[in-house]
Amino acid sequence: MKHLFKRKNIDDILREVDDTNGGLKRTLSATNLVALGIGAIIGTGIFVITGQAAAQYAGPALTVSFIISALGCVFAGLCYAEFAAMIPVSGSVYSYSYATMGEFLAWFIGWDLVLEYLFACSTVAVGWSGYMQSLLEGWGVHLPHNLLQSAFGHENGEWILTGSLVNFPAMFIVAVITALLLGGVRQSARVNNVIVVIKVCVILLFVGFGLSYIDTSNWAPYVPANTGAFGHFGWSGVLRGAAVVFFAYLGFDALSTAAQETRCPQKDMPKGILISLIICALLYVAVTAVLTGIISYKELNVDAPIALAIDRSAGLAWLSPLIKLGAIAGISSVILVMMMGQSRIYYAISKDGLLPGLFSKVHKKRGVPQNATVFAGIATGVIAGTLPLNVLSELVSIGTLMAFAIVCISVVVLRRTQPQLRRPFKVPLMPFLPLLGAFFCILQMVSLPWNTWLRLILWTLLGFVIYFTYSRRHSHLRKK
Ligand code: ALA
Repeated sequence: MKHLFKRKNIDDILREVDDTNGGLKRTLSATNLVALGIGAIIGTGIFVITGQAAAQYAGPALTVSFIISALGCVFAGLCYAEFAAMIPVSGSVYSYSYATMGEFLAWFIGWDLVLEYLFACSTVAVGWSGYMQSLLEGWGVHLPHNLLQSAFGHENGEWILTGSLVNFPAMFIVAVITALLLGGVRQSARVNNVIVVIKVCVILLFVGFGLSYIDTSNWAPYVPANTGAFGHFGWSGVLRGAAVVFFAYLGFDALSTAAQETRCPQKDMPKGILISLIICALLYVAVTAVLTGIISYKELNVDAPIALAIDRSAGLAWLSPLIKLGAIAGISSVILVMMMGQSRIYYAISKDGLLPGLFSKVHKKRGVPQNATVFAGIATGVIAGTLPLNVLSELVSIGTLMAFAIVCISVVVLRRTQPQLRRPFKVPLMPFLPLLGAFFCILQMVSLPWNTWLRLILWTLLGFVIYFTYSRRHSHLRKK
């Protein structure tokens, strides 16, 4: 029992980092971090989920949902920054909790991160598929009907058969990105910067040119009346909308895994996390306002809502291919970062012995954890090919909200239990901000449908089974 709460020693971890920095180079500045952050954040959330959340839950008031969600993220982001500056190693929350709360909670959080990254990669790939299909159709290319989407769909709480077999384009992009990662392609800051510029330009073009096509009657009623069911319009819908679009902000937490490669993590990490979050929040609110202004929210439950809005506005036809190409490029960079994050989590957990050692084998020449990468590719491909986007994204949201809530609470607990630790960056207004962060995250979790909760519980139970049958016995810390 005592072993469950055995902690890694923070001084040991820091000493290892100080001596060799794990072979990693400290090259990233705050500006690089902001660019990396935007590269990892803006993707399927804004290009796809916005439309679905407006159509099903919040209507035009989805702009408010985006603000609520951003608040939870900013507060959690500050807590991430305190941790990342204090323990600047890769492995993110998993590593922080191993050092501060012991092995069992670290496993619990690590398993939750696996859920986040595995399902987020799949969701983003399905989003990519929607825009790719829309672009191809614009060029008159039609893929076979049974390769367009997953066999199962989920509408109004019911599973349905879609008539298709698998989402082939989603599986295709996952295979391509896996191959790229295996080849040792480092996501060089320059390539990422180019994609970020394209993404942001496409969004600004949409907002700028879309403004004059807004029909303000589409914004009335701003908060559509509740249908009688919790979460379907009305203020409960705005809350559920916040929990669903929360997905759009994910990625900033992946920044914290780059702490070891940051020039001055103590100063630059908080800056990078906060500035990229704020820029994305502003863009998201603007896009949602324009989108729900151009076209009635009722029509937005489609795979490529921004493309639909443009196709509907006669004068904007020229913008259509640009937006689709921008979305495809932008979403690809998110998949790349998330797939890398996913394999790093397997790698970090496996290095501690909690997953089989084959996941931490690194290719000698290419420096890539190849087994972890291949596994991530296969698992993501299968899930992306067979499950619908809404089920996937809600599961990601609930899992990540839980991770964020835990991070917020841990910061408070750790200030009390280990006040002596050196904290180069401290969350201001302790303990109010972290507790407010945890409150916003839990509030959004509560607003998600019960079957999403059920899936989270099943996933967690599966994690416990693996821990007690395998990980506990193979833990390196225990063997020490
Ligand atoms: N925030 C990322 C996206 O929206 C996961 O695609």
